[in-house]
Amino acid sequence: MKYAALGFAVACLLVSGSAFASEELAKKNCMVCHQLDKAGMGPAMQDISKKYAADKEGEQKIVTVIQKGSKDVTGPGKMMAPMAAVNEADAKSIAKWILSLSEKK
Ligand code: HEC
Repeated sequence: MKYAALGFAVACLLVSGSAFASEELAKKNCMVCHQLDKAGMGPAMQDISKKYAADKEGEQKIVTVIQKGSKDVTGPGKMMAPMAAVNEADAKSIAKWILSLSEKK
C-alpha cells in the first residue's frame, strides 16, 4: 500500500515534470511573439490550441508550422519563420503542450 502511494506520487511528478518542460520550451522559443491568451504578433496560444484540437492531425500540423513556418494564415502579411533551432522532439512536446491548453477547460 505504501509503495503504491509512492509509485503514484512518482508518476504524478513525471507527468507534471514533462508538462513543465514543454512549457519552458514554448516560453523560450515561442512566447516572444505569441502570448497565452491574447493575439500579439502571432495568434494567442489558446486560440491555436482550439483550432488544432478539433483536428485529429493537429499535433502534426503544429509541428509542421514550427518546422516550415506559416504565412498569411491569420491575416494578410502575417508570417512566422521556420524555427530551425527547435528539433523534432521538442516541436512535438511543444505541440502537445499547446493542445493541452484547450483540454483543461
Ligand atoms: C518571430 C515571431 C514568432 C515566433 C518566435 C513564433 N511564432 Fe508562431 N506565428 C507567428 C506569426 C506572426 C504567426 C501568424 C502566421 C500566419 O498568419 O500565417 C504565427 C503562427 C503560428 C501558428 C499557426 C496558427 C494558425 O492559425 O494556423 C502556429 C501553430 C504557431 N505560430 C506556433 C508557434 C510555436 C509552437 C512557436 C515556438 C516553437 C512559434 N510559433 C514561434 C510568429 C512567431
